Amino acid sequence: MLVLLALVLCLTPVDSLTAFPPKFQVGKLNEDVVVQCDTLEPHINWTLNGEEEPMAELVAEGWNLTILGLDLPATGNYSCWAGPILLDTTYVVVSGAREEEIDISCQAESYYGSFHCSWPGFPSDVFRARLTHSDGSVGPWVPAAGGNGQFNVSLADPSFCPFGEELRPLRIHLEGLSDTSYLSLSRHFFLRDIVRPDPPQELTLWQRGEQLHLAWAPPASWQLPKSYFTLLYHLQYELLNGTQVQQFVEGVEETEVQVDAQRVRISCRDPYTAPAWSPWSPWQDLSAPQ
Ligand SMILES: *[C@@H]1O[C@H](CO)[C@@H](O)[C@H](O)[C@H]1NC(C)=O
Ligand SMILES: *[C@@H]1O[C@H](CO)[C@@H](O)[C@H](O)[C@H]1NC(C)=O
Ligand SMILES: *[C@@H]1O[C@H](CO)[C@@H](O)[C@H](O)[C@H]1NC(C)=O
Ligand SMILES: *[C@@H]1O[C@H](CO)[C@@H](O)[C@H](O)[C@H]1NC(C)=O
Ligand SMILES: *[C@@H]1O[C@H](CO)[C@@H](O)[C@H](O)[C@H]1NC(C)=O
Repeated sequence: MLVLLALVLCLTPVDSLTAFPPKFQVGKLNEDVVVQCDTLEPHINWTLNGEEEPMAELVAEGWNLTILGLDLPATGNYSCWAGPILLDTTYVVVSGAREEEIDISCQAESYYGSFHCSWPGFPSDVFRARLTHSDGSVGPWVPAAGGNGQFNVSLADPSFCPFGEELRPLRIHLEGLSDTSYLSLSRHFFLRDIVRPDPPQELTLWQRGEQLHLAWAPPASWQLPKSYFTLLYHLQYELLNGTQVQQFVEGVEETEVQVDAQRVRISCRDPYTAPAWSPWSPWQDLSAPQ
């Protein structure tokens, strides 16, 4: 059974999709699908994946082409022509059942209303996504970038207000097409739950008498003003004997400690809402030139 299916799939001359087709139609397996040619030309011809010979289960009538009992070999690129002139193209796929398996992960660097999401997929898939904004309006479709089995997209809600309480969740709608099937899924979440800052920057340290003095700056991507969008910082010191010492400070950008640390690194997070710590900054050696 599997071998047969594989054979059928291999024999089907389906062009791999490289971008989301402007016009597509989703049908159910073994049900009829009507494809319409958007034209006023009186005489048209159809091709399926570039093949001119009509298959037995295709019935052309006027500007309609009915696919009787959609199956996998009948999926693909239906183009209608007036002689050599291409009039219209519809990509026909079978509705898929992979929705539940797709694990979308979304992250925002701050509270500007922009974020990015990533999810796994097959290399031959194409995806697009759009966002329902916090004011209820729906954003444009954005094609997803992909390769190596991982897809991603960056979305932004221009009506997002970083200063107000976020009352309604953002809603992301994802559509995907493979050579033969379609999937559609949506997720909703609050931006505050997906914030993960970039690492703090410009970490410097120097010895002042017995004390170690450190200074740093918030991530460049972090929302201003700092007085409103405070950060909790996690400092990690590595001592001469390899022991690590932790320190937490909030809302400041320098500190002094009394340890004989060899090197230090820093990470940060929003102290109030998002529980995710930023990635660590690189280790900063005490001896390194400033
Ligand atoms: C479908 O075929 C037509 C004609 O060959 C081509 O112009 C078009 O790009 C194809 N569309 C897709 C989505 O492959
Ligand atoms: C073509 O299809 C449309 C939509 O399915 C239908 O309304 C129309 O009557 C059809 N036309 C013909 C000539 O079959
Ligand atoms: C379109 O179909 C007509 C007959 O209906 C045929 O004469 C013509 O050669 C066809 N054209 C193409 C490009 O297949
Ligand atoms: C998104 O995917 C593209 C293509 O695979 C990759 O080059 C890029 O680094 C990815 N971006 C993110 C933020 O993951
Ligand atoms: C490492 O040194 C610190 C103080 O310099 C000391 O408190 C700690 O016990 C030492 N740890 C080990 C494993 O020797």
